[in-house]
Order: sequence, then structure tokens, then C-alpha cells
Amino acid sequence: MPGGLLLGDEAPNFEANTTIGRIRFHDYLGDSWGILFSHPRDFTPVCTTELGRAAKLAPEFAKKNVKMIALSVDSVEDHLAWSKDINAYNGQEPTEKLPFPIIDDKNRDLAILLGMLDPAEKDEKGMPVTARVVFIFGPDKKLKLSILYPATTGRNFDEILRVITSLQLTAEKRVATPVDWKVKMLKGQIPSSPSRPKGPVSKWLSSGSFLLGALF
Ligand code: BEZ
Repeated sequence: MPGGLLLGDEAPNFEANTTIGRIRFHDYLGDSWGILFSHPRDFTPVCTTELGRAAKLAPEFAKKNVKMIALSVDSVEDHLAWSKDINAYNGQEPTEKLPFPIIDDKNRDLAILLGMLDPAEKDEKGMPVTARVVFIFGPDKKLKLSILYPATTGRNFDEILRVITSLQLTAEKRVATPVDWKVKMLKGQIPSSPSRPKGPVSKWLSSGSFLLGALF
């Protein structure tokens, strides 16, 4: 598929119709971090579980100063009608209001520009639908992380919050976070270094010399 974004690329400053009206992407992000996440179709089961989970976790994204925005190849009218289902699935009032807007990309302009289409999943007209893409942008509007799931595999939004914690930490301090890192699990970080440690890595890691001290 043509298009796409690479780490370090600036987010295109596109205009789009959304469930909160017309937006310009950079203005929507402001000085915040941002997550742009796409899903294949409205009114589908996996997508409903995903957006339901994202809605429940919206306060956690807000605490991290991350503005959320979703996208699919459906219309604003569909997004609003489906939002009622998502709220009902979450055990809440079935209103059209979600804690984040959803972009109308029915013409696939953004999906093509951003490389979001899944060639294996087609709509009733035989056109590819959006994959489950996650783009995280920093306050400088540059892409800090991208994850691309096929339409048939739902995401883990707790993992997305985990990686945002790492992205924000490593943006601030010259450290790197190891496998399965979580704030409460490991009181210390591995310095991010362009050079590899001398000798076996296993010895270097077990020496504890990588611990910079408890930052949390
Ligand atoms: C779903 O959200 O349930 C779904 C969407 C596209 C392909 C498979 C499942």
C-alpha cells in the first residue's frame, strides 16, 4: 500500500470531518501528545470492544496529556450512531458522545496518505478497510511510535498506555526501558547508549550497574 509514516516524520496537518466537527489535525493536537488509532469498520464486534476499552481508559490518556482521536472508513453519521452502541457496551447511557472524536475517512484519503489500509479485509464493495493502526505523536507533532495490527486482531490498550509511559520517560531522560517494563515493576532504567556494553550482556545486566536509581 502506498503512503505511510516513519518514526520522526511530522504528522500531516490534514483537515477532516469528525464527530466533533471539522478539525485541522495540528490544531486538534495543540501542545499535547497525541494518539491517532484506526479501526476497520463501525458496528463490528472487535472494533466495539476496542473503542469501548479506549473510552474507559480515556482518563488515563488525559492524565498523560495525550489527546485521542480515532478513524475509520465510515461516515460521521455512522460513527455517531455506533457511539451509542459503544456506550451501551460499556454499561453507560447510550449517547452519541465518546471521550474522543472519530474521523470520517469514507473516501480513504487519510487511510491512503497514512498507509492504514489492510489489503486482506474488504468491504461490501471489495474496497480494503482500515487496519488497526496506532500512531503516537509527541508535542513536536513528530511520530514517536507506530504499531500496525491487521483487522482481525484486536489491540491491547493497556499496552499502549505502557509504551506511552516509556516514550514520555525516554523523551525526558537519556534512558531506555527493558522488556515488559512497567513503572512500578522496575525501580531503574537502562541508559540508552549507542555503544554496546563490553563483555556478555547477561553479566552486564546482572551486575546491576545499569540501574540509575529510583526515579519513581
Ligand atoms: C471486527 O471488528 O469484529 C472485525 C472487523 C474486521 C475484520 C474482522 C473483525
